[in-house]
Amino acid sequence: MLEIRDLKFDPPLLLAPMAGLTHSALRTLLCECGGVGLLYTEMLSARRLPVENPTVSPWLVRTGQENPLCYQLFITRPEEAGPALEALHRFGADGVDINLGCPAPRVRQAGGGSSLMAAPDRVRALVREVRRHTELVLSAKIRLGETLDERGLRDFCLMLAGEGIDYLTVHARLRGEQFCRKPRWEWIGRVKEWLDIPVIANGGIFSVEDARACLELSGADGLMIGRAAPQKPWLFAELAREIYGLDLPRPAMTLPAMYSHFATALLERFRPERRLGRLKEFTHYFALNYSFGHLLATSVQASTSFAEAISRAEQFFRQNDPRGMEEMGERLVSPELLSEAAD
Ligand SMILES: Cc1cc2nc3c(=O)[nH]c(=O)nc-3n(C[C@H](O)[C@H](O)[C@H](O)COP(=O)(O)O)c2cc1C
Repeated sequence: MLEIRDLKFDPPLLLAPMAGLTHSALRTLLCECGGVGLLYTEMLSARRLPVENPTVSPWLVRTGQENPLCYQLFITRPEEAGPALEALHRFGADGVDINLGCPAPRVRQAGGGSSLMAAPDRVRALVREVRRHTELVLSAKIRLGETLDERGLRDFCLMLAGEGIDYLTVHARLRGEQFCRKPRWEWIGRVKEWLDIPVIANGGIFSVEDARACLELSGADGLMIGRAAPQKPWLFAELAREIYGLDLPRPAMTLPAMYSHFATALLERFRPERRLGRLKEFTHYFALNYSFGHLLATSVQASTSFAEAISRAEQFFRQNDPRGMEEMGERLVSPELLSEAAD
């Protein structure tokens, strides 16, 4: 267990912030499966937060089950910090993270994400201002930088710690590196040696073996899991048992039951126009569990309504997971709920 301020990470397994993926429906599925020590939102625009309605915003909607929850900020100007933090306190955030690693061109052009790593003085001002406005656990999430520059990375990390972040998450890739490249977990080990705050390792963890290898190379205080979360929602519980020795039951849900849980949560909590895109995004990863999963992914991808996507998914599961579908009474979502929530 990791304890920072009054937040317990038990176990120190964190859900990575992922735009379009780490919303309430995925988070509750993960809570059902168990083993997540800290949930995250996707990145949230600090500028827009103060005017968002948390009960309807697809980025903010949250059930009482989703605890503890860290809110990730996309912030570019120090004056955005006060109003954004006031909003996060109102929403009941358990932690705040600053996105300094996102390489997406749109985010970089807006002056956020990984572009900030090239502007340490701007980051210093941002972190200082965020820290000044909150007593919550504060973290930052970075990549290794533009190039492998040990001194530059060290100075940047020490600056963040000096400005009062409580832990640092390192995605072990350079700014321009694709996901197909093996992450440089050994570089997280260097960061760990420089800092006296906890360091969380991120990137490329899809199995217990990956987690063991990453911990061995990095000596990290915890792990953050991204794409494996929608692919294998049970992975956190497996890691909690195998790595951290927690006595967690194996999730009893079949794959169709997990898909059903996710789809039902989308129907219950999201406005019609916000459901289909999120179902497609999740299916892209979840389909990897089946040898013919590309058929599930492409048929859902080609759907023009939520009901059509569900019907195609049902057809896929009936053929590829008949026992799982039988347990579900052959339906993923109750027809009444589907028609009530028709899009
Ligand atoms: C679809 C997608 C969206 C992402 N959105 C964010 C984001 O909003 N904020 C962020 O810091 N990182 C974001 N990331 C990066 C992840 O948090 C994580 O660092 C990355 O996926 C590597 O971890 P993994 O190999 O476990 O997936 C995103 C990644 C993906 C695949």
